[in-house]
Amino acid sequence: MAEDKTGANRIKRHPFLGDAPDGETTRVIVDGNEFYGIIGEPIAMTLLANGIRTSRTMPHSGAHRGYFCGVGRCPDCAMTVDGELNVMTCTTPLRPGMVVRTQQGLGSWQENE
Ligand code: FES
Repeated sequence: MAEDKTGANRIKRHPFLGDAPDGETTRVIVDGNEFYGIIGEPIAMTLLANGIRTSRTMPHSGAHRGYFCGVGRCPDCAMTVDGELNVMTCTTPLRPGMVVRTQQGLGSWQENE
C-alpha cells in the first residue's frame, strides 16, 4: 500500500457518507512549506487535513481567523493563492502546484514579492 501524504487529519471513512473517493495527489506550497492534497478538493480541505487552521489574520488586532461557513458566504477562509488576494479557499478547487499564503490583514501585493 502506497504511503498517503495527504494529511494525518484527513477523514478517509465517514460513518454515514462511507469511504472518501480516491483522487490524484498533488503538491501545494503553504507559507513556504510543502504539503499534499487531492486535485479538485477545496483548498481549505487540503489545509485542514494537514492541520492548518489559520487562513488569515484580522487587519487591526492580528487575531487569527479560520474556516467558518465552508460554503463561500463569509470572509474567514480568504487566503492569498498564486499571488491573488482574498481567494475563498473553501470553494476554490486545489490545482497542481498552487502556492498558498496566510493572508495578513487585508493582504498586500508586497506579500507576493
Ligand atoms: S469559510 Fe466562509 S467563505 Fe470560506
